[in-house]
Amino acid sequence: MLPHPSLTAHYADTKSKPEFVNGLFNRGAAHYDGIVDWGFLRSGAGYRRWTQKRHGLRPGHSVLDVACGTGLVAAEAAKILGSAANITCLDPSEGMLAVAKTKLAATFVLGRAEQMPFADNSFDFLTMGYALRHVTSLEDAFREYHRVLKPGGKLLIMEVTKPSGRIGEFLFRLYFGRVYPALTQLFTRSRAARDMMHYYWETMDTCVPPADVLAALRAAGLVDVKRIPLLGLFSEYLAVKP
Ligand SMILES: C[S@@+](CC[C@H](N)C(=O)[O-])C[C@H]1O[C@@H](n2cnc3c(N)ncnc32)[C@H](O)[C@@H]1O
Repeated sequence: MLPHPSLTAHYADTKSKPEFVNGLFNRGAAHYDGIVDWGFLRSGAGYRRWTQKRHGLRPGHSVLDVACGTGLVAAEAAKILGSAANITCLDPSEGMLAVAKTKLAATFVLGRAEQMPFADNSFDFLTMGYALRHVTSLEDAFREYHRVLKPGGKLLIMEVTKPSGRIGEFLFRLYFGRVYPALTQLFTRSRAARDMMHYYWETMDTCVPPADVLAALRAAGLVDVKRIPLLGLFSEYLAVKP
């Protein structure tokens, strides 16, 4: 299952999506941290740390952060673990990884969620922050998550989800569809940064509903699958490898 229908204004079909998405993040990487910092009212670091701690990340865990980007999730995991020695960060964008490498001494791997170069049963805790919309197949990604987690290992996916109510959806559309990309262009003077945030909006707008994500997690063999919604905007998807 695709996380959203092909956005043919940007790429012809699912096969050409990875190259498009990679170009977007490579070009926007230098601006990413600044944009998400003010765009989410400086809540990003604290929220990423609080969420991982609440859902059971503890010192001693081996962590895989899929779609690590510039390392925002992994940097907060390192604070909980006391070091980045047991953290592996995976991302297909060399530009995003280059920024992440300046922040923490984790293991960095160039790769994609759908096919990961890790042995079976390798990790206690697997995170993915704000990137589920970028995979080409939910089934392939979740099958890989199931494979690389140790038995009893936990999966945490953080996402932004379009609100279902009319007023919430209107405000969401206004902010993410118009205000955020326009302010991004104004503050960064970068067309690449604006394009990255406009695409961010398009994928949120067209994303499959949470019920489909939950069904795909269960179909991959994961258990204790649930979604915790927050403020009508954030989704925390949780699952365990039995
Ligand atoms: C919006 S950023 C999220 C970065 C970070 N996790 C955070 O919390 O801010 C999305 C990231 O997903 C990565 N990405 C895109 N396609 C991917 C795929 N198929 N597998 C893994 N990561 C992917 C991009 O390169 C980018 O770094």
